[in-house]
Amino acid sequence: MFATIADRYDFITVALSYGRDRRWKQRVASLTGMQAGETAVDLACGTGDIALRLADAGGHVVGLDLTPAMLALARRKDQARRIRLVQADMTHLPFGDASADVVTAGYGIRNVPDLDAALAEVHRVLRPGGRFVALDFNKPANPVLRSAYLGYLTVVGSVFGWVLHGDPDTYRYIPASIRHYPGADVVVERLVTLGFDEARWEPVLGGLMAIHVGRKKRRGD
Ligand SMILES: C[S@@+](CC[C@H](N)C(=O)[O-])C[C@H]1O[C@@H](n2cnc3c(N)ncnc32)[C@H](O)[C@@H]1O
Repeated sequence: MFATIADRYDFITVALSYGRDRRWKQRVASLTGMQAGETAVDLACGTGDIALRLADAGGHVVGLDLTPAMLALARRKDQARRIRLVQADMTHLPFGDASADVVTAGYGIRNVPDLDAALAEVHRVLRPGGRFVALDFNKPANPVLRSAYLGYLTVVGSVFGWVLHGDPDTYRYIPASIRHYPGADVVVERLVTLGFDEARWEPVLGGLMAIHVGRKKRRGD
């Protein structure tokens, strides 16, 4: 599915966020507190937006994604070869324990079929004190707001799907994935259970979107 939409991905992301997506991704990068010389992994990196922002801080950045077409677009954007790109599944990370200072994800954790496995991998590869920052849609707790939000995304997604791909179902995965997603509060609970402290989420777009933040506990914390 992501191979089908890869070529239009950057356009649709900007359009669906009314141009705000870049600012949100910049906020993700700044919340990591990334320092020169640190190592970061951007999960579900897609076309590389967050990974490239992390590279601006002067760290060693790996962009990881399952879809070769997305990685090819990231490579095209990264002409200076500042990031390393890896094709892999975020539920089975090809990195050693405690090998990263920072892990990020943009619209990644909501899409993964086994959220707990993905978060456990984030925890495993982070060094103690390492930071996790993830941007994603939220699932409003209020049923009226939730249904209006999902309805809106379905209608707008259908229009874009029809116009850009000739198939109104192309972007149905967005509301479908939100339906199956537990939402930002539950993600924070799971981060705490896994051994993150300072776990919280920051509302974006009045809480319709969320940026999750957590720090892997150090021994003795
Ligand atoms: C909505 S895009 C997000 C792209 C980018 N992070 C951004 O913020 O624009 C979701 C990405 O997740 C990738 N993806 C989906 N399941 C994955 C998995 N299990 N492991 C790694 N990447 C995955 C897709 O290939 C796609 O590039």
